[in-house]
Amino acid sequence: MNKKVKPATVSKMADEEIKEAVKKAYGKFARSSKSCCAFFTGTALAKLLGYDVNGMPESVTESFAGCGNPVAISDLKEGEVVLDMGSGAGLDVFMAAKKVGDSGRVIGIDMTPEMIEKARNNAEKLGLKNIEFRLGDLEDIPVEDASVDAVISNCVINLTPNKGKAFNEAYRVLKPGGRMYISDIVIQGKLPKKILESLQAYTNCISGALEEQKYIQTIKDAGFINVEIVGKAKFGPIASDKIKAYKPRGIESSLK
Ligand SMILES: C[S@@+](CC[C@H](N)C(=O)[O-])C[C@H]1O[C@@H](n2cnc3c(N)ncnc32)[C@H](O)[C@@H]1O
Repeated sequence: MNKKVKPATVSKMADEEIKEAVKKAYGKFARSSKSCCAFFTGTALAKLLGYDVNGMPESVTESFAGCGNPVAISDLKEGEVVLDMGSGAGLDVFMAAKKVGDSGRVIGIDMTPEMIEKARNNAEKLGLKNIEFRLGDLEDIPVEDASVDAVISNCVINLTPNKGKAFNEAYRVLKPGGRMYISDIVIQGKLPKKILESLQAYTNCISGALEEQKYIQTIKDAGFINVEIVGKAKFGPIASDKIKAYKPRGIESSLK
């Protein structure tokens, strides 16, 4: 007899189980770019979001699953050190590497081994030397304290169960006065319970998203100041927000 398998219920899952499901989904997406996400992905999406994909191998853009273009809202400068939280196949790392040049450095962190392998192969194809991909969790970033000028992230924080930990980690690795540029999915309205409980909706970057005000407050709670939404694309109760935030240089930390 065929037993019906009940779909997993997100609210009953432990954080580690959710992360395993996310890894499985993005491992599959790294192997076959046809298998991910509620919104469309890949080269067409990158072009729509304003990426200049000239000279980018298809193996970079086919696995692009961002919801914005964080490098485009940044003011990255020659010689800076940049960290991409949840770097996937590497598109934003490669874009940032162009901005910081040979005297700068870009580190991509991702917890999915297949994505890290794909990103490293892509870096080799592009012949880039000023970049590095590290396997790791955003909630425990394998990067030294106060060593990074700017953090970027594209459609990732919604996927990690403890967003507070991820923003605390971004704050820790930034130098005083460092900046953070984020594109991410947030909720502005109500999602049906069925969607909120769906693991597939979670791995598709929907049901793990925070309500917008809560998202902004979580960034502020980590210590960031001048947190600002600088752009938004809205699709019903879901929005893709572009956010800038700053780590205080020192004295301003008491003003947050
Ligand atoms: C929607 S994709 C976006 C990838 C990339 N930023 C882009 O724009 O193409 C999400 C990525 O975040 C990674 N990810 C999700 N949660 C993570 C976590 N807690 N730590 C590290 N990586 C994570 C996934 O493995 C996946 O590669």
